[in-house]
Amino acid sequence: MKAFIIILFFISFFFILWVWVSVVFWSLRNGISPMPTSDKAKNKALALMSNETQGIVYDLGSGWGGMAIQIAKKLPHCQIIGFETSPVPFYTSLLWNKMERLANLKFVKKDFFHVNLSDASIVYCYLYPRAMQDLKAKFEEELKPGTIVISNTFSVPGWDPVQCLQLNDMYHTRIYAYVKSNSNVDALHAKPKPI
Ligand SMILES: C[S@@+](CC[C@H](N)C(=O)[O-])C[C@H]1O[C@@H](n2cnc3c(N)ncnc32)[C@H](O)[C@@H]1O
Repeated sequence: MKAFIIILFFISFFFILWVWVSVVFWSLRNGISPMPTSDKAKNKALALMSNETQGIVYDLGSGWGGMAIQIAKKLPHCQIIGFETSPVPFYTSLLWNKMERLANLKFVKKDFFHVNLSDASIVYCYLYPRAMQDLKAKFEEELKPGTIVISNTFSVPGWDPVQCLQLNDMYHTRIYAYVKSNSNVDALHAKPKPI
């Protein structure tokens, strides 16, 4: 019995250590930890998603899956796809989705920079400034006009939000909503007119 408890202790210890090392390693590699969207931010971001939405909604960096699950519940007529590369959050989100049994939700273990986003109706992200900078170019190239981009905390540099909601939380978090239009792109690349 004593030997069994010792073995169990070591297995649990190394499992927790592996989980910790994996989360830290992938957070450093991805440039952000799998910190979930707060409940307040979730409610505001969901309020920006119309119930009438059809098509595909991407959660870019879906973490533990909590936000994607709420989107899938709110938009049952949409297909929600969360992309995540960090294994521990990813497999947790798979498990969570198995329990929730949401037919319109799928998690994919893939770097979202390697996915074409042209079929998106809504893109949700909670990332970090460098990723938003890189995503801006991807959005301009791939998103079809009318696609809604909702970003927690970090703006799409150079784009004008159609709405910007500020939460009354500790960080005065902002939720940005954009509609991809040709003018997002035209304005950014417009050359000054010769006088
Ligand atoms: C702050 S969390 C947000 C989690 C979730 N979207 C939410 O709002 O609750 C950001 C997640 O993006 C993931 N991530 C960052 N860059 C990624 C990439 N290029 N491809 C896939 N996932 C990425 C990170 O591993 C992290 O779990």
